[in-house]
Amino acid sequence: MRFGINTLDDIDAGNKTVLCRIDINQPVDKAAGVLKDTTRIEACIPTLKELSEKGAKLVLLAHQGSDIEYKNFWTTEPHSKVLSSLLGKEVRFIDDVCGPAARDAIKALKSGEILLLDNVRFVSEEQTLFETKLLLSHEEQAKTLLVRKLAPLADLYVCDAFAASHRDQPSLCGFEQLLPSAMGRLFEEEFCVISGIMEKPERPCVFVLGGAKISDAFLMMNTVLKGGAADKVLSGGLVGELLLWADGKNIGEGTKAFIKKEGYDNLLDTAKGLLSAYRDRIAMPGDFALLEDGQRAEYPLENIPPDAVVLDIGCETAALYQNIIREAKTVFVNGPVGVFEDEATERGTKMVWDALGDTAAYTVIGGGDSITATKKYGKTKDINYICTGGGALIRFLTGEELPVVKALRHGSKITRKIEA
Ligand code: 3PG
Repeated sequence: MRFGINTLDDIDAGNKTVLCRIDINQPVDKAAGVLKDTTRIEACIPTLKELSEKGAKLVLLAHQGSDIEYKNFWTTEPHSKVLSSLLGKEVRFIDDVCGPAARDAIKALKSGEILLLDNVRFVSEEQTLFETKLLLSHEEQAKTLLVRKLAPLADLYVCDAFAASHRDQPSLCGFEQLLPSAMGRLFEEEFCVISGIMEKPERPCVFVLGGAKISDAFLMMNTVLKGGAADKVLSGGLVGELLLWADGKNIGEGTKAFIKKEGYDNLLDTAKGLLSAYRDRIAMPGDFALLEDGQRAEYPLENIPPDAVVLDIGCETAALYQNIIREAKTVFVNGPVGVFEDEATERGTKMVWDALGDTAAYTVIGGGDSITATKKYGKTKDINYICTGGGALIRFLTGEELPVVKALRHGSKITRKIEA
């Protein structure tokens, strides 16, 4: 047991039906219908291999979003092929989550076999509305459809989804109320490494916050600035754009329309509050890049064309960020600072990642897009720690107990299955 949670050493999975929640949520190429990266899938292989070799009848639960949080859910079918090839054995996929077909497939599993269910977020109780508005307790989550239908078929619950450990949802926190539970190997490693770094980060400690999934960034910024964990926040991507908008700066009507479309304008008041309390510790972009006839065009903030959609931080901002990263002693990164997928708008992210590659600071990056950028710029070996979690990492850094950690501590005390 570590941190009050069972590890795989504490459970006997042999011939047992094990529900295993993994996080294989990957950046997707919507046009081509393929996964752009497989890092998270690779990272959970040790747990799956170990459980399968111990003779578990293994049922995998996972979610897959798209680039925008909680919209456009995708099937997990492509992931089963990647899992099969990495494990060297078939991981069967079923296009059902907890209906009769999924339950029959679970009952038919033999020792060592692995079944991947479809995206758990196809079940409405797994979605954000339930997490943020209805605030189901863990006991209530144990009464949701998913848990009621699947827990009776299982003996054990294992969570290896560290990257989703900040989510308070039935597939992550409900099963631990009924089944003896443990964390998987990846969860154990990430929890251990990050706890170690956070005990005493070397100063100055800089946070680079960007990306397109920004609710978590805004949630944690106040805590890390107030509590002193962050000496400086370097903002990019939608985080930087929203902060500037909140500060009354012109970021282009197209940019604002995009932020509104994603529903992030509701963070404007939070952003204003952050700026009034911590302006001196928050760096915002002073120039931007946009596309004109398919070509990169850079503008200082005060000259951004009225209708513009900004797509990257400008080179002056990126150079300034490079200096701060090179002078830091610890750097946490969550999210690229621009649309790094396209050649014309990748320069800001590339420059930031160049500095991450050669700084002497201890560097930690987290999240799907940051991992993809790290690979794209060949920096995997230069980054000290790559965490599969983005939102989970930054939520962890606030010092709050993560919902899944709380649930796993509870499930680690259960020695015999509780009938619902
Ligand atoms: C992530 O990508 O951060 C995790 O998979 C959690 O996904 P979510 O933000 O869609 O809940």
